[in-house]
Amino acid sequence: MTKEYDVELHQIRKCFGSTVVVDDFNLQVERGECVTFLGPSGCGKTTTLNMLAGFLEPDGGTLTIKGKPMNGVPSNKRDLGMVFQTYSLFPHMTVAENVAYGLKLRKIPKSEIAARVNKVLELVKLPHLADRYPKQLSGGQRQRIAIARALVTEPSVLLLDEPLSNLDAKLREELREEMKRLQQELKVTTIFVTHDQEEAMYMSDRIVVLDHGRVEQIGTPEEIYQRPASPFVHEFVGKSNRFQVKLAATDEHLWHFATKEGILLQADRHSRQELTGDAAVAYVRPEHIVIQEVVGDAPPPSMNTVFGIVRLVSFLGSIVEVIVECHGQLITVRTGIAPHLHLVENKFVQLSWDSQHVSAFPAKEA
Ligand SMILES: Nc1ncnc2c1ncn2[C@@H]1O[C@H](COP(=O)(O)OP(=O)(O)OP(=O)(O)O)[C@@H](O)[C@H]1O
Ligand SMILES: [Mg+2]
Repeated sequence: MTKEYDVELHQIRKCFGSTVVVDDFNLQVERGECVTFLGPSGCGKTTTLNMLAGFLEPDGGTLTIKGKPMNGVPSNKRDLGMVFQTYSLFPHMTVAENVAYGLKLRKIPKSEIAARVNKVLELVKLPHLADRYPKQLSGGQRQRIAIARALVTEPSVLLLDEPLSNLDAKLREELREEMKRLQQELKVTTIFVTHDQEEAMYMSDRIVVLDHGRVEQIGTPEEIYQRPASPFVHEFVGKSNRFQVKLAATDEHLWHFATKEGILLQADRHSRQELTGDAAVAYVRPEHIVIQEVVGDAPPPSMNTVFGIVRLVSFLGSIVEVIVECHGQLITVRTGIAPHLHLVENKFVQLSWDSQHVSAFPAKEA
């Protein structure tokens, strides 16, 4: 038996004029899953969501919701809940009327509407605001109401386009926690759009990383972070130190690289893609670098070890970020609070890392 998906995109393509803004987009979303589209501004996130919502028609490919082809089906027949970045509440209606709107359109009996509105306002913890107007609400409250309004019709799929991006940092964190709880409690299939990678990792079962209208990688937050499929994903998701390298030698388990300046890196070949040619780009994440003080002169560089001068130290609460200059390159290190390390500017330090934490890609992809 073939598996049924709540949302399927098959070779979806969209052009504006002669510009292709979404190309060959393939995705299958399971029931109850939260999938995030993540990518830089202009990569095609909203365009893809608008095709799902029925506001735009694809120029190619097929799109199904609950197994039904959606090409040509109007937005109001797609059984969707939607929340956008800007507050889309009706200003002349109270909170309760706003939330009830979708149910009225569906000709649900009055008594049932009242009960359902109340229940969904309880879900977003704002039942006491039912009689207020949107202008009497804070930004965070308005987005909670917008979420309530999207959920009240119990849609097959919830589409969220940067619903938190107009809120301040603290409120964003609070609301994303609430949205995740709601999403998991109601098990509503959700497609969430954001350009904020932390928000994407927090919310998602799976993330689709997009660049210039193309899917770069689809995976769980762990897969995307720990095994980025391309240099773009490595640089877009999380912080990375990038080394332009030449392949010096290959053995059964390792690649041996060197930068022009003489930094030597070894990378595990285990289950990584193959390199083509000598030029490569290698990455090491800041949290995988061990920093130690050095007393006396620097020994010559050795594999996965460099020496350098501390240029900047920033206290970030639970971690310290240190920028170290090594052979003219700035390397970022993130370490737990280590009282025994006197990390101050101009200190001479050793940086080292393990070959399992070095990812390498052919340079042409960089
Ligand atoms: N109606 C339109 N006509 C022409 N070009 C458009 C139209 N809508 C979007 N585009 C272009 O399509 C590309 C993708 O836009 P889209 O809105 O999908 O990006 P996005 O990933 O949502 O970006 P952001 O993070 O800034 O919201 C952009 O280059 C944009 O300029
Ligand atoms: Mg957008």
